[in-house]
Amino acid sequence: MSETLHRLQQAHIHQLLGAYRTLMQQHGLDAIALYSGHALPHYGDDQYPEFQAAGHFVHLVPLSEAQHSWLIITPAERPRLMLYAPTDFWHLSPELPDEPWVSEFNIELVNEAATPSLSGRIALIGDVEGLQESPVAPPHGDANSPTLVGALDELRMYKSAYEISCLREANRLAKAGHEAAQAAFAGASSELDIQLAYLGASRQRESHVPYDNIIGLNQHAGVLHYQHYDIHTPGERHSLLVDAGRRFRGYCADITRTWAGPDAPAPFSELIDAMHALKDHLIDDMAPGVDYLDLHLAMHRRLGAILVEHDLYHGTVDACVESGVTRAFCPHGVGHSLGIQVHDVAGLKAPDGTPAPAPADHPALRLTRKLTPGMVVTIEPGLYFIPMLLDPLRDTDAPINWALVDQLMPCGGIRIEDNVAVTEQGFDNLTP
Ligand code: GLY
Ligand code: MN
Ligand code: MN
Repeated sequence: MSETLHRLQQAHIHQLLGAYRTLMQQHGLDAIALYSGHALPHYGDDQYPEFQAAGHFVHLVPLSEAQHSWLIITPAERPRLMLYAPTDFWHLSPELPDEPWVSEFNIELVNEAATPSLSGRIALIGDVEGLQESPVAPPHGDANSPTLVGALDELRMYKSAYEISCLREANRLAKAGHEAAQAAFAGASSELDIQLAYLGASRQRESHVPYDNIIGLNQHAGVLHYQHYDIHTPGERHSLLVDAGRRFRGYCADITRTWAGPDAPAPFSELIDAMHALKDHLIDDMAPGVDYLDLHLAMHRRLGAILVEHDLYHGTVDACVESGVTRAFCPHGVGHSLGIQVHDVAGLKAPDGTPAPAPADHPALRLTRKLTPGMVVTIEPGLYFIPMLLDPLRDTDAPINWALVDQLMPCGGIRIEDNVAVTEQGFDNLTP
């Protein structure tokens, strides 16, 4: 890791601790105790699912797999990090990295999953419900107060220079995976082999991906969160959609690309090009003050124009959008906030914490804010041929070119997704 990133990380920690201490003052707290969480074994089993440490913990401590660990922040002292590091002969004991951030904390490596004993007015943050003992006796220990969690979430909405560097590096690593996936598709691989090519090139094990990679051939490209990896190569290869990421120091990339196969009809490739252009247009419009909901609505207008231009809809763009046809071709939102979680926190709240839900006719939108420097969002327009959504329109007078839709059905759909930071001047596309 570069010296610059180390310096940026230290500045990130200092700035964040300052914000925590301001909140402690406002909330009359003696400490905030962040719990990393821990995995529970499968029922009746001695095997555990993959674990991801709580976002607020990872915001300060770059150990996204740390379990049974605590960070205790007080108004003045160096924060105390109780890092669970059991020594046994079954596993390799965790070791602290040789990195400058460790000097920001008083670190105790603890052999047992221990709960700290705290006194005073303490706010507990994290999944503390299942703990056998509480670090503080009620009424002094307030767990996950919505007001405080809301304020901490708000801190995560605006990324520091360190966080943006991490997100950029996650993107760079994911890009190598996408290139390998494209090459595997050209070599007629199955979904499973494309997945393995992706993981190999992006240098990660499957259990470390930020979300389950979506690797859909043909009609599977039209299943928004398709969750299987078919081990057989299909006889015909119309399309491949890969929505796959990478973590870097806890921060997620979330990139989607779609490719036409040798058996795709010509209009499919043209639609892929049009969707790339649509993604670029939306990103070009990003700037501080732009409402993300307006970008979502712009996606629908431009998608309507694509449907008209590519002969899928024989009416006006206005009619296509207003009658809900574009929503049948793209049922998800234009994107979401991105950070330690792939769908990052606080997207449906105003900066003061009041709820800002998605509009009733666009319920899948995950972010309803005005863009502000420091935000990192995805821009991911889609165009799908999903029978469940399109079939109900067949019995209406919607002027849809069903012959062309049916020709494109075996291609499933298209999604193109980049990760973009909002800057003072406009935007910085982190996806190479
Ligand atoms: N990969 C999930 C999403 O794009 O939101
Ligand atoms: Mn995605
Ligand atoms: Mn996404």
